[in-house]
Amino acid sequence: MELEAFVLAEQYLSEVEAAALETEEQTEQFRLRYLGTKNLLKPLFDEMRNVPNDRKKEFGQLCNKVKTTAENKFQEAKNILDRSKLNQFERIDLSAPGEPMQLGSRHPVALVMEEMVAIFERIGFSVAEEREIEDDWHNFSALGTPEDHPARDMQDTFYLQNSTTMLLRTHTSPVQVRTMLNGKPPIRIIAPGRVYRNETISARSHCQFHQIEGLYVAENVSFADLRQTLTYFAKEMFGATKIRLRPSYFPFTEPSAEMDVYLGLETERDQRLTKGTGWLEVLGCGMVDPVVLTSCGIDPEKYTGFAFGIGIERIALFKYQIDDIRLFFENDLRFLRQFRSANVF
Ligand code: PHE
Repeated sequence: MELEAFVLAEQYLSEVEAAALETEEQTEQFRLRYLGTKNLLKPLFDEMRNVPNDRKKEFGQLCNKVKTTAENKFQEAKNILDRSKLNQFERIDLSAPGEPMQLGSRHPVALVMEEMVAIFERIGFSVAEEREIEDDWHNFSALGTPEDHPARDMQDTFYLQNSTTMLLRTHTSPVQVRTMLNGKPPIRIIAPGRVYRNETISARSHCQFHQIEGLYVAENVSFADLRQTLTYFAKEMFGATKIRLRPSYFPFTEPSAEMDVYLGLETERDQRLTKGTGWLEVLGCGMVDPVVLTSCGIDPEKYTGFAFGIGIERIALFKYQIDDIRLFFENDLRFLRQFRSANVF
């Protein structure tokens, strides 16, 4: 009769040989059963005690065979599984096109503003930025608007709560003042930014909008230089070859003018936007008043300058054929998505 220990060992050997190790789960179960800390082979080896001396060698060899078979089988299965995991990565097609990225779009006001900035940068202007909360000296007094001027009225200007001097700037012109106070001529800046006025909101006007201020102060700057700069701007921005300067009034420029560009009357849109004249009013400008230069610490005997202020929304309305300024401030995605997206690369 065969000894029990031998029967058990033979049984384990045939189990080990027959075991199917195709999945990770099966392989792990196999490892725990035959090679783990509480494996079945340990008690089998302990059976050695009960084996008669003349068969101990034979039994030992059999046990070792079970053990090495299990070890080899496990290692082989593990290698196959590891390789198939690697294959999963190799199966990824690295040349396949990626998931499309959701790009945001640029706000039409930003697009127009950037286009204008680029135009002026090409002829040597650099960008200056300043605060939106101003004091009345920089926003009004230094710019020739005296204390009793109606523009300072609460009806037109937003003052900070409990303040009679701190306000939301009503134009970008205080950037002129700060730039002249902080630097020496030659000065050649453009200042894009947001401004605020206490106006009733309608399709044509809003309590917030954007302007670009321009300022050039140096020796011998003349009205002809202003006209030339604006002619260049009109050509670049609108493709317009004709501009006209109408006499106007601003408290900080003398003489002052408003510039119109000629767009013609070819389309129904031209008709509508120019009210049948072919001319679109684009900006206010003038020669910096010597009084302003003096308030800003610049000698008006030595230096002269010109300035201009462009309303951005008006031009964006025209450019994108929009007929309600409120659309710019409502953040309606159906509106915003229609504009060009940011160039991310
Ligand atoms: N600040 C003026 C306005 O808001 C525009 C302007 C700027 C006029 C510079 C002349 C020179 O209406």
